[in-house]
Amino acid sequence: MQSDPRLEAIFSSFDGCREELILLLQRVQEEFGYLSDAGMEAVARFTGVPEGTVFGIATFYAQFRFTPVGRNHVAVCRGTACHVRGARCILEAFEQHLGIKQGQTTPDREYSLETVACIGACGLSPCVMTNKKVQAKMTPGKVAEVFGRNGSAAK
Ligand code: FES
Repeated sequence: MQSDPRLEAIFSSFDGCREELILLLQRVQEEFGYLSDAGMEAVARFTGVPEGTVFGIATFYAQFRFTPVGRNHVAVCRGTACHVRGARCILEAFEQHLGIKQGQTTPDREYSLETVACIGACGLSPCVMTNKKVQAKMTPGKVAEVFGRNGSAAK
């Protein structure tokens, strides 16, 4: 099986030992935006760690995602400050608006939705990050506004 040149480029700066597993998975996710089965299999081959173990470790950590992110990415903060100011209701409003649950991407890959820990803007809570832009003082009623007229989240 021919390997992906982007994976080869990542692997070229590692030794392939087990201790590098998490760092390798992080680098693969940075490069591709998520961990595909093929990406994790390649990491398993490179490190000599059984595929099942690699999958198990990757699924243990919340930082890893297994579906591609959408062109518009929504991250609802569920840190403490946002949580006490209604993050759960905001998440539900996004789920309803987009028709997906947290951790999912719409079938057309236009939107993806996830929750994150504190995004460092607690004074503006509750917050949501859309395409790396902080949406402050969110309410469920503002969810539709976030997507604007053309349906794209504010950049
Ligand atoms: S808890 Fe949401 S920004 Fe800090």
